[in-house]
This record gives sequence, structure tokens and C-alpha cells, in this order.
Amino acid sequence: MAEFQVAIDGPAGSGKSTISKLIADKLKMTHIDTGAMYRAVTLIAIEKNIDLNDEKAYEFLESIYISYEHDRILVNDRDVTEEIRSKEVTNNVSLVSSFPYVRRKMVDLQKKAAENGRVIMDGRDIGTVVLPNANLKIFLTAKVEERAKRRQLEKIKKGHNVEFEKLVEEIQIRDQKDSTRKESPLKKADDAIEIDTTNLDINQVVEKIIGLINSAK
Ligand code: C5P
Repeated sequence: MAEFQVAIDGPAGSGKSTISKLIADKLKMTHIDTGAMYRAVTLIAIEKNIDLNDEKAYEFLESIYISYEHDRILVNDRDVTEEIRSKEVTNNVSLVSSFPYVRRKMVDLQKKAAENGRVIMDGRDIGTVVLPNANLKIFLTAKVEERAKRRQLEKIKKGHNVEFEKLVEEIQIRDQKDSTRKESPLKKADDAIEIDTTNLDINQVVEKIIGLINSAK
């Protein structure tokens, strides 16, 4: 396969990153988790103690370098892969990612990362904005209770105990903010194939998408 781009979009907890990573490993493609980039910006903004509501304050992005290597996210040379999953980052990332300036910077990086390669990129606006000409576009969904259940299991595996109702609420708030923002909101591209994963396990979704990739080649 020469150059090939797969765009995977969907709401919080729909399994985009886990599924994209598994497909990338199986098909020897590069996986780029764009949510991790917005999370990295949020982490640094919090650490710098800027006013998160002030779009101008994000100009610090001119002097930092965000990169993505084998599913580790780096800011300059610092590995922030674990830190970007904190509650504080999760609760602020939808605000940070709503600013046109921040999005422009990230979209530029994402477009460059996808050039000349075999890439599977996941996020909210990949099929609509970042890779509008992707060879295959997928929109993953699942009922909010199912998504919260998956998040809860992930947290339990890592030794954290979180209330199910709190997770449902957190996911609903993030989805609401992500799909109603002015700049490139979460939205299914007209030519994306929607897959409801509520009653599917990870392997079933992976196999389904690999089948679609093979027919799109
Ligand atoms: O995918 P994940 O849940 O880690 O994304 C974190 C947040 O980053 C989303 O809730 C959304 O606010 C933002 N995001 C975005 N555009 C993308 C990917 C993520 O706005 N392409």
C-alpha cells in the first residue's frame, strides 16, 4: 500500500484511540492520536498558569514543540503521555481546543504528520477538516452508558476508583462542548461510515474496519 489515510472520528470514549492503535499495529501504519495533542497543550497551559479563557495567552505554542512517537506524546523532549490523562486536563481540554488559534496550530502539525505516509488518525475533526480527502472515514459511536462503562474499566485497571455517574456526566459535558463549538465541531463527515460499537467488542470493530480498509485500497 502506498500513501493511505484513514480518519477515525467520534465522541469521547467511543474507543477511537484503542481501535486505531490496534489497526495501526496490525497493518503497520502510523497512528496519530490528535486528542493527545490537545491534551498536551492543555497540560502545558495549566502548568504555565495562563488564563485558560484568553486565546492570546496560547501564543506560548510558538515556542514549544509537540511530537508523537510510537504512541508517546512529547512536548519538546519531555514525555507527557501519562500526565495528559489527569482529571484536570480532561476537564479543561474542551475549552482549550475550542480556540481557533490553538486548532490552527494543531491542524497544521497533524496535516504535516500525515503527509506521504500510511496513517490512521483519530480525533473529532479528522474527516471534516484535517484529512478531508482521506481514503476511508469512520465515525465511531456508542451509547453514553457503554462509553462510561469502558472508561470506568480502564480506570479500575489503572487502580483508580471513579463513580460511574460522574463519568457519564463528564463525557456528556465534553461531548456537548465538542459538538457545539464554532470552530470545527465534532461532526460526522458526509462521506464517513458510521459504526455503532455499543454491542461490539474491540476485536469485532477492528476486524470490521480492516475489512473496510481492504475494500478501499
Ligand atoms: O480523544 P480525546 O478524548 O483524548 O480528546 C480530548 C479532547 O480534545 C476532546 O474532548 C476535544 O475537546 C479535543 N479534540 C479536538 N479535536 C480533535 C481531537 C480532540 O477538539 N481532533
